[in-house]
This record gives sequence, C-alpha cells and structure tokens, in this order.
Amino acid sequence: LPEFREHYVKSREAVISRIALALSSPKLSNSQLVVQLEDAIAARTKAKHCVAVSSATLGLMLAVRALTDGRSGDVLVPGFAHNATVLAPLWAGRRIVCLPVNPANFNLCVEAVAHTLANRSVAAIMAIGVAGNPSGLRAVEECARSAKVPLIVDAAPCLGATAVLGEVTIFSMSARKILPAGEGGLVVVSDELLAAQLKDLRLYGSKNGFFCYQQGLNARLSELHAAVALGCLAELDEVLAKRRRFANSLRLALSAVPGVSLQSVDDDVEPAWNDVIVRVPSTHRTELITGLQQVGVDAVPFYDPPIHTHPAFADRCVPDFQGREQQLLSLCAETIGLPVLSSFSDPHIDTIASVFYRILSP
Ligand SMILES: Cc1ncc(COP(=O)(O)O)c(C=O)c1O
Repeated sequence: LPEFREHYVKSREAVISRIALALSSPKLSNSQLVVQLEDAIAARTKAKHCVAVSSATLGLMLAVRALTDGRSGDVLVPGFAHNATVLAPLWAGRRIVCLPVNPANFNLCVEAVAHTLANRSVAAIMAIGVAGNPSGLRAVEECARSAKVPLIVDAAPCLGATAVLGEVTIFSMSARKILPAGEGGLVVVSDELLAAQLKDLRLYGSKNGFFCYQQGLNARLSELHAAVALGCLAELDEVLAKRRRFANSLRLALSAVPGVSLQSVDDDVEPAWNDVIVRVPSTHRTELITGLQQVGVDAVPFYDPPIHTHPAFADRCVPDFQGREQQLLSLCAETIGLPVLSSFSDPHIDTIASVFYRILSP
C-alpha cells in the first residue's frame, strides 16, 4: 500500500501513556483529555474556544445548524468541494447554491459570493481552504461580514495554516490529515455563546444528555481519540515544517514541467499543504494518475466529479455559476491531488517529477 498517513513515531510513548490515562478515566468521551485537547487547540489557533467533535463532517453539520437557526434562505457552497462541505447544509434541511471558485487559488470566489448575496436570500456561506491553502478567504470573510451572513470555514485540511476565519472554522483529524487521531474534528470559534451551543448540540442538543432544548446529535469525541491527538501535539510543528518543505520543493519542481499549473497562494498565507494540487491537460490526467500510482504515489483526481452533478445532491442543489460553469468543469477535469507527508523527501520529488516529464513532455 502506498504510504498515506502521518505516523508520529517520536510521539508513540506520549500517545500510549495518554491512552492508559483515558482507559482509567471514569468517562470515555468528552472528559479531561478532550478538554485538554480543546484548550491546546484554542491556544494554538489563538481562538477563544475549541469544541472537539467526533468528525469534521459532524462539526460542519452542527455549525450549520447553530448558525442558520432562525435565518431563512439557502446556503452558498463552492462548486469545487468535498462531499462533507455540502452534506452539512443538506442535513440541516437547506438548499445549497453552488458558486464558481477562483481559478487561481481554487477557493470560493468572492466576486461570485457578492453577486449572489445581492440577488438571493442567504442563510449562511460555506468556504473551503482547499488542500490546506486558505488563500482568498479573508476577502470572503469581509464580504460575509458586511452582508451580516455567517461564514463557516471548512478548514479540514488547514490545521497549522489558519486561525479562526468567519464565525466557525473546522479542522479534521481523519486519517489523511496532518493530525490523524483515528477520527475527530476541531471546531474553533470566537463567540462564547456559540461555543456553548455547539457543546450542547454535540450532546443531542441538551445540557445534560437527557433534556433536549434543540435538535442536536451525538458528536462527542472519545477520550481515546483525544489521547492520540494530544500525545502527537508536541511533534506537530516539526511535522508541519517537514510537510511544508516537501510541498514547496515539489511545487517548485512541477512548476517547470510544461502543461502543469499550480494553486496560487496569497502573500499573507502560509498553507498547511495537506495535498499539493496541480492542474494538467485533462487529456493526460488519467495516464498521469495511473503512472503515479504505478510508482507508489497515491495520486487522485481532486473533487471530481463536481458536487452539482452528484445524484444524491441534485434535487436540493441550485447551480449559480454566473456564466462560469465551463471554467468549473475544466478545473474538476484537470486537477490531480498529490499526497504530502513529513516522511517524503527529494527522491519522492524526483520520482513524481519524472512521471510528469515522461507523460507531458516525452
Ligand atoms: C475539505 C474537507 N472537508 C471535510 C472533510 C471531512 O472530514 P471528516 O472525515 O473528519 O469528517 C474532509 C476530509 O477529508 C475534507 O478534506
């Protein structure tokens, strides 16, 4: 199997000792290790509050539920999106409006958001920091704030790159992310009341687990998952730095290959680079992915097919591409996601680059 997750080998003892602590605790979820993890992530991200949940998908769902409560209208989503980003508003009973993305940074297009806000009733906006690169999202945040519409940022791959953006920012701890805890999500928020509401929503929508004053669900994080994440935290910055070094070198190497273009980065953003995404001619994408997989690189088509074409979403998805549907379809047909790991180094870059050269400029 190709290597596709971080192992945090140096942290193994720290993880095991915390798991032992978790096993001796009277409560196996939402207890002292979960609180320690929440405090550590709030401090790291300079957020006032962190609410740990059992997956980023559930964090997104609870955030949509809390922030659209009492608001009418649709939820705006980027047309280039992960399934979870659109499942959250759909589970909250909302229609989604798919918007174009910025063709340079692949994130939600601020001009498209402004246009739609002027023409529709909007309950909330969802944006993604695609591949761990939140470029362009400060502008989306300003646009949402001036329209007084809540912004939920799916920052599943962005831990290390961003603090709170919008009302709620959500990181994932699933297997392919920088801090794999087994499963888990981290919701960071500035507003104290919102943090308290999210804590109740993850406990069925109650304060005590028995009396529901709102419709929540079970999104508690187990102490065992918190133990894994907490045990790895001391190594996170080292892992992040290695991943960044690898991703930057890989991007530099691939930028020289004819026919390859890269995701752009704002000057004031330092991406976490969960993946390196490249655009290639769609005619050569399948051959490239096969070639990469044959040399053990877990390359994938990125966010393809696009969300608005999935049968599961069709009846409650309104495309609003503002004349730019073809641009979005091309992006989805041309992208390849390449894995980034702290264990990867120059030989991986040579292997990957040689596949690109062989296929794109034989
Ligand atoms: C952009 C994005 N959003 C949401 C998710 C869902 O995260 P989780 O698996 O923790 O629910 C992922 C996970 O791959 C993701 O990459």
